Amino acid sequence: MDNLREIERNKVLRNLGYELFYLRKIFSTMDFAREALEYGKYLKAIIVAEEQVKGKGRKGRKWISPKGGLWVTIVTPIPKNKLEIANIIAGLAVAMSLNELYGINVRLKWPNDVVYLGFKLGGVLVENIVYGNNVISLIGIGINCNNSSLDVGVKGTISLREILGKPVNREKILEKITANLENLIRKNSISSVIRMYKKYCYSLGKKVKIKVNNEIIEGFVYDITEKGGLVISSPSKGNIIADYGDLIEHEGIRYKLG
Ligand code: BTN
Repeated sequence: MDNLREIERNKVLRNLGYELFYLRKIFSTMDFAREALEYGKYLKAIIVAEEQVKGKGRKGRKWISPKGGLWVTIVTPIPKNKLEIANIIAGLAVAMSLNELYGINVRLKWPNDVVYLGFKLGGVLVENIVYGNNVISLIGIGINCNNSSLDVGVKGTISLREILGKPVNREKILEKITANLENLIRKNSISSVIRMYKKYCYSLGKKVKIKVNNEIIEGFVYDITEKGGLVISSPSKGNIIADYGDLIEHEGIRYKLG
């Protein structure tokens, strides 16, 4: 198991320049992160909560966050040219880290659902804020770690403890994700990020249905663009690029989409 409350003293994260916050119970680490930036002026901060009572998911959905999970927001400046792919970078950092730490085949359902054998293991929510001359990314990461998927109450969910058969150390996971995130944001070029993303992308080659501007496109995911968008090969429409949109069906995914 682990002792997450010790995170505020974590030297690895401190040495990377992060201000660290541990909260036992909070509405959402995203709201706290916004306040840490606005009032505390922390351009680099990590906010971890043991439990969230109003966790936020993508597209305005709620995110159930019981004790035992890793619920964190990483506040970090991001270069303007990487802004468009901030959500791709964040998902990639999570998938890479879990593969590196545990040798498990964690992949990303486009754009950044963290999946294992089609079950949802975690998710990423990115909010970007213009702050003076900087753009600051609030990177919200949720991973079902030592909690049971039954506590989440959403069909098709899984946790690391269920995959590995033993509890994990959330502090180690956070250290690894943060280090990978730093490298992807600051060192790697956009093309190399996209190349890496493709290795972890569960959606490539899969049959999907996506809704873009009220139009439904059906086909196979053929490629990922330099903006992190999908290239879908559709029998009726040829190759279509979808930079955004809602996947409403996805081969191999065991949880409800939309
Ligand atoms: C998704 O819908 O898949 C994204 C879920 C993101 C959840 C994380 S948990 C930590 C951070 N705080 C929140 O309220 N949401 C994000």
